[in-house]
Amino acid sequence: MNHEKRVLTGDRPTGRLHLGHYVGSIQNRLKLQADDSISTRLYMVADIQALTDNYDNPTKVRENMLQVVIDNMACGVDPTRTTMFIQSMVPEIAELTVLFMNLVTLQQLSHNPTIKTEAKEKGYSLDSKLNDGLAQDMFRDTMERVDESNSPEGGNVLFSRGIPMGFLNYPVSQAADILFARANLVPVGADQRPMIEQANKIAKSFNRIYGTDLFPCVDILVGETARLVGIDGNAKMSKSLGNTIYLSDTRDQIIKQIKSTYTCPSKVRVTDTVTAEELAGNVVFQYLDVFDTDIAYVADLKQRYMTGQVGDMEGKDRLVDILDTLIAPIRQRRSELEQDIPAIERSLQDGTATARKLAAETMQVVRSAMKIDYFGSSL
Ligand code: TRP
Repeated sequence: MNHEKRVLTGDRPTGRLHLGHYVGSIQNRLKLQADDSISTRLYMVADIQALTDNYDNPTKVRENMLQVVIDNMACGVDPTRTTMFIQSMVPEIAELTVLFMNLVTLQQLSHNPTIKTEAKEKGYSLDSKLNDGLAQDMFRDTMERVDESNSPEGGNVLFSRGIPMGFLNYPVSQAADILFARANLVPVGADQRPMIEQANKIAKSFNRIYGTDLFPCVDILVGETARLVGIDGNAKMSKSLGNTIYLSDTRDQIIKQIKSTYTCPSKVRVTDTVTAEELAGNVVFQYLDVFDTDIAYVADLKQRYMTGQVGDMEGKDRLVDILDTLIAPIRQRRSELEQDIPAIERSLQDGTATARKLAAETMQVVRSAMKIDYFGSSL
């Protein structure tokens, strides 16, 4: 295969996008969109993936489908330069997922670091002893929380729910998301690294086993700020943790969030001094480091803060202005886009048709490589 650069990226439609998405992937999407050396750019609304952990809340996924598209477009993703499409409307991706499932082991999936973290958050059990216990009772609905007193570890088990297959398998599905388009560059947040590694493993196995060079090697492109902390200082800005600033927030919402942003607990009075180590945990300064381009000003403010000449106010006020300057035009563009939803829907339909064409080309080669290309693959 040739070496043209093909970019594919996507979001789960589970909520509006926030600053973490912006620095983690959207900025790179915009950079790549401006790069004329790239032949194909695709953006996917990963609704099937969103359902893997929201199968009981399809309304949420449906409602956020357009929201994530609008967020991206408001930031500058342009459907005339980036093919925007909906995952569930390209059934070839599901087909490819099933074929890829032969190339991945249960053990690989349950050791995937992203799966492990997310399973823990959701209370799903990856403990094999416990899973054996769950599996023995064929009639137990493993989606339900198991009575803790019945669990093998007595009452001390925190994660006692069976793990849904769809959830465990989503790295395979994500490999199909990328490889159906034979994409080789994926701009995403750092948390997605294990997903890209899994996609590469699958691509290599497929090529080797079926004697083809169909699938490329996939590179990840992580933003300059690989991971943005939440306003509470938690390692990750995330909707489920409620520690976010959304790209659609009003100035007042930004003010409210920055007011409660974690600073230095030891700083009670302006005159209190703060060590460099304490300063490093101050989220206001972490954000200023990312978003304020006036490096000299930030350095001076840090100095004054550490030596007891200034309190939290100056940095917080400054941050509100910096963030509102970033978000105001996005907000403005968002409200313009919301005036013509049918136009966005048309772009998505066109984009989906384009993605399906690409998918059909790939599937033809896949079917032939796997010797399931009967009757010229048409009925
Ligand atoms: N897993 C990604 C996220 O949670 C979303 C996603 C799904 C994706 N399929 C993809 C990203 C393919 C890049 C490529 O943000």
